Amino acid sequence: MSNQPIGIFDSGVGGTSIWKELNLLLPHENTIYLADSKNAPYGEKPKEEIIALSKKNIDLLLSKGCKLIVVACNTATTNAIKTLRETYNIPIIGIEPAIKPAALQTKTKAIGILATKGTLASELFHKATDLFTNHINVVEQVGEGIVNLIESGKVNSKEMKALLQIYMKPMIEANIDYLVLGCTHYPYLIPQLLELLPEQIKIIDSGKAVALQTKAVLEQHLLLNTSRANPETEFYTNAHTEVLSSLLGKEYKVEYLDF
Ligand code: DGL
Repeated sequence: MSNQPIGIFDSGVGGTSIWKELNLLLPHENTIYLADSKNAPYGEKPKEEIIALSKKNIDLLLSKGCKLIVVACNTATTNAIKTLRETYNIPIIGIEPAIKPAALQTKTKAIGILATKGTLASELFHKATDLFTNHINVVEQVGEGIVNLIESGKVNSKEMKALLQIYMKPMIEANIDYLVLGCTHYPYLIPQLLELLPEQIKIIDSGKAVALQTKAVLEQHLLLNTSRANPETEFYTNAHTEVLSSLLGKEYKVEYLDF
């Protein structure tokens, strides 16, 4: 079982930011990544649909023999993880916005969170936020349009720059010192955000935490791959392959799959 792959899915290409962290920390693990780009963005969909799409993705990953699932999508995690864990008898790791570290470290008592509508509206997000942000101003911003631009290969476009300027303005005005990236697509925007934001604002995302948690759970279940053979990586998308390929680099093969 331990040499079976880790299954990872996202509403699209953004979860590759998580796959990269996993691959860095766990370089001997075999992985299968699903980009459900045909159905992106999840962030605009009702909870029941997000749950159904997540199940469809997990069913496919399980049919390919995955030993553990990483939900590399904040929107799917915050809306579906409870149901998924009740449904499947396999370890499932989720990703949530890193509100806690930002709230604990802020000096200006103001933090910003950029995430999808689905994440910001979820019960799980509210519970976590209420727990840690009692005396803190939390500036919430829906990143409307960002996922669509990234999915169409426009990470570094004029449209993206214009959107980010609009979304960051209220955060800068509120004097935030931490910006939490609450969507796995957004780490690809870090270079642009660094240009746009005043120097004292730090950007945090949950990628490393997810990789560490995955490692801990694999250890706990005795599922770490002990084989030192070169790991196998499989990347599937149900839309065009170019954008996913461009984020991964030429050394990784991306295949179209109808799912
Ligand atoms: N990467 C997904 C997330 O983390 C994007 C959501 C979407 O498809 O709207 O939330």
